[in-house]
Amino acid sequence: ASVQSAPITITRETFAACRPGSWANIPVECCPPKTIEGPIVDFKPDFHPSKPLRVRKALQCLAGEELEIYTQKLYKGYALMRALPDSDPRSFMRQNQIHCAYGTGSFVQDGSTNLTMDIHLNWFFLPWHRLFVYFHERILQKLLNDADFSLHFWNFDNSEEADGDGDGCYKAGHFVPPVYADLEAPTFERNRTSRAFDPANPVYLDLLSTDPRLGQPVFHNYTVEEAVRGNKRIMHRAVAQVHDVVAFVGRPRRVGDPQILDASDGAGTLEWWPHITLHNWVGGFMFQTQTAPLDPIFYIMHANVERLWKVWRSLSPANVDPADPDFLDAAFLLWDENAVLRRIRVRDVLHTEALGYTYEKVNDASWIFFD
Ligand code: C2O
Repeated sequence: ASVQSAPITITRETFAACRPGSWANIPVECCPPKTIEGPIVDFKPDFHPSKPLRVRKALQCLAGEELEIYTQKLYKGYALMRALPDSDPRSFMRQNQIHCAYGTGSFVQDGSTNLTMDIHLNWFFLPWHRLFVYFHERILQKLLNDADFSLHFWNFDNSEEADGDGDGCYKAGHFVPPVYADLEAPTFERNRTSRAFDPANPVYLDLLSTDPRLGQPVFHNYTVEEAVRGNKRIMHRAVAQVHDVVAFVGRPRRVGDPQILDASDGAGTLEWWPHITLHNWVGGFMFQTQTAPLDPIFYIMHANVERLWKVWRSLSPANVDPADPDFLDAAFLLWDENAVLRRIRVRDVLHTEALGYTYEKVNDASWIFFD
């Protein structure tokens, strides 16, 4: 960081100056209300050392009564969330809208007319999306009146039924989880492309012959074996093999930096594969930034992406988060489960434990040691 550099911070004024953004040259209008009523409250993680961590589990390992109870809760939570009026910042529509505003250049950096805040293709991708999913989960908890509810994750990178040591989940998860594939359920989205409708079609994490921002990607009809092999290779290259912080986390973004439109230039490897790939693989709403969170599968995919950030840090002492104050002190505004606008710094969301949760142990070994 140079002497004059400064972290990007989002303020009341940023919201007031919100303007239409764009995605792949399509104009997009998704500004939150220009005038924010009520206070903006600084977010402090509410972790208490005496309270056990909630565990986000791998969806493919839920079974029996636990799966039944979870399915009913999940459906109820999404039905309630979808029923909130658009005027409520916790509504499904408004959560999509705020992701859109942060992700399509609608927020202009303070004191600038043409430089924007963006949460993709740079180092904000991982912390911002962790936080977005965190508040989404808290809104579901509030609607369900269940503070212990966890948004279990889509373990799309695990394609092997290997025996573990008996503790944790060792079942393959590389198909769309059935609780997100029921056509009648509020967790389903009809816009998905047909490959993501078929519960027997494995995900494919490799990319694409086209730039995802410019055209519909091409996916081949791989057999399960081919897809699994390809996925392990991708996971190995994008996570296990990367020890450079910028390469993994994404390019720095400070006050004064312009938006980067070419993913290959700013995105960290985890954002690029499997994340962008999966947006494209699911397709429909997931294909575009301005609509992606309208498909509930967005949130369980992103939960696994941020779990993989944790996994990456555990793989080598070289794998650390940026220590740059322009990263740590960057601040976002998001609405919480009580519809209160919160100000959150990146430094407060680097560890899930500080946010009160962790992830179930699963089998990552098949791609970590792949060659
Ligand atoms: Cu803001 Cu998966 O994207």
